[in-house]
Amino acid sequence: MSKGNTPNRADFVVVANRLPVDLERLDDGTERWKHSPGGLVTALEPFLRARRGAWVGWPGVADIEVEPFTDDGLRLHPVPLSASEFAEYYEGFSNATLWPLYHDVVVPPVFERSWWNAYRRVNRRFAQAAAEVSAEGATVWVQDYQLQLVPTMLRELRPDLRIGFFLHIPFPPVELFMQLPWRTEIVRGLLGADLVGFHRPGGAQNFLWLARRLAGFEPSRGQVGVRSRPGMVQVGDRTVRVGAFPISIASTEMDRLARTKEIQQRVKTLRSELGNPRKIMLGVDRLDYTKGIDVRLHAMHELLAEGHIKAEDVTMIQIATPSRERVEHYKQMREDIERKVGRINGEFGRVGHPAVHYLHTSVDRKDLVAFYCAADVMVVTPVRDGMNLVCKEYVACRYDLGGALVLSEFAGAAAELTSAFLVNPHNLDGVKDALLAALEIDEAEGRRRMRALRRQVLTHDVDRWARSFLEALGTPLAE
Ligand code: ADP
Ligand code: F6P
Repeated sequence: MSKGNTPNRADFVVVANRLPVDLERLDDGTERWKHSPGGLVTALEPFLRARRGAWVGWPGVADIEVEPFTDDGLRLHPVPLSASEFAEYYEGFSNATLWPLYHDVVVPPVFERSWWNAYRRVNRRFAQAAAEVSAEGATVWVQDYQLQLVPTMLRELRPDLRIGFFLHIPFPPVELFMQLPWRTEIVRGLLGADLVGFHRPGGAQNFLWLARRLAGFEPSRGQVGVRSRPGMVQVGDRTVRVGAFPISIASTEMDRLARTKEIQQRVKTLRSELGNPRKIMLGVDRLDYTKGIDVRLHAMHELLAEGHIKAEDVTMIQIATPSRERVEHYKQMREDIERKVGRINGEFGRVGHPAVHYLHTSVDRKDLVAFYCAADVMVVTPVRDGMNLVCKEYVACRYDLGGALVLSEFAGAAAELTSAFLVNPHNLDGVKDALLAALEIDEAEGRRRMRALRRQVLTHDVDRWARSFLEALGTPLAE
């Protein structure tokens, strides 16, 4: 990481809970910066690096102060969190209240007043940091559920700024959102933005309804469309636009990487290390209870037990990035998944040949691309996901038109990737049928589906997403 002096003010500023790099403290007492986890960073980092903007975010470790620094042209402005704020704002309100509430109450959200107070306090700190970093009239793009109060707090401090907000996770049905004791404050917080963006039109529509019901502002009528036809809410003399902008990945870059000799060599090595199985199934996720990792393990277990597949023929690889490890439901889920992997391997593995290879780690970019290229079936089965970038990455890597994608209907990406094997993750028999169909697909049909998927992913990349959002915000980017 090259550090350099950081000029004070920027014309384009991203504000997100995390910086694109996380500080890691190693056992020997040294520190290093590593790539931050999750789809938000995957999507925004390449875009912002190319434009030399500024990024305001938490450096990934509590109780430290880090000076602003520059990393290859990207200006990073760390916002500190104390250990108790990390527990209450991040693990508590963000990830044990909002995260489950916004993901269809997959587990019960916890409503805790002290967490809400910490959320407000930390949002104010992010707003203040953004106000200090932004040049006169700058565009500030606030990201995700951890920072929903920032738009209004920032507007109070800096009315000259143009403020956008994008939610990277689903926005819930109104009946669920109404459970939140602080629902009105959240809606008012978001309405401080000039443009509020969601992945799907349904989320935008829900928010418009809540703006009237909870904040008393009259929204426009008519359905919101993808990238077009935004809704509008009149807030005093300001018009807040509300739209749907499905996020994506740097698809051309992934396609290019997948084609390199180095990756193709890694693919060969990987397959031979696995004993050259006839078929490889792959899952890649943050270890999160919304991702439906248990669903695919159950399906695999039953397929093996019923004799539809044999462990000598079909190998599953599950790569799971550690995530939010101190939050109760994450601990529980990790135990359940690891028990299930152990059971499948105990029943169906042989010495040197487990049925499921489970890696509790993050892998580097090149290895990830090699895994995608080696996988005959990519299994993406979330019970709810705002978008899901993993499935788009898989498609972008399959320049050979090989492989097949099994994708949950409950991922935002399902609306775009209609040539995948779409499944309802609550219907185990349906998931098993889709896995079998994907494993046995004939070559011509597989190529036809993958061609259609690639057409979508390669023409709708992250640059197009960012451009369409910023255009709707009224700050189009120069070519
Ligand atoms: P989320 O934002 O909920 O984590 P997404 O699917 O939108 O889910 O984005 C996840 C991102 O993290 C993708 O870019 C994916 O490649 C990356 N990722 C997920 N798991 C791993 C892993 N085990 N190793 C490396 N990268 C991973
Ligand atoms: O995309 C959803 C998201 O929660 C992002 O906001 C976040 O950066 C990413 O997943 C990873 O989660 P966390 O920052 O909690 O490790």
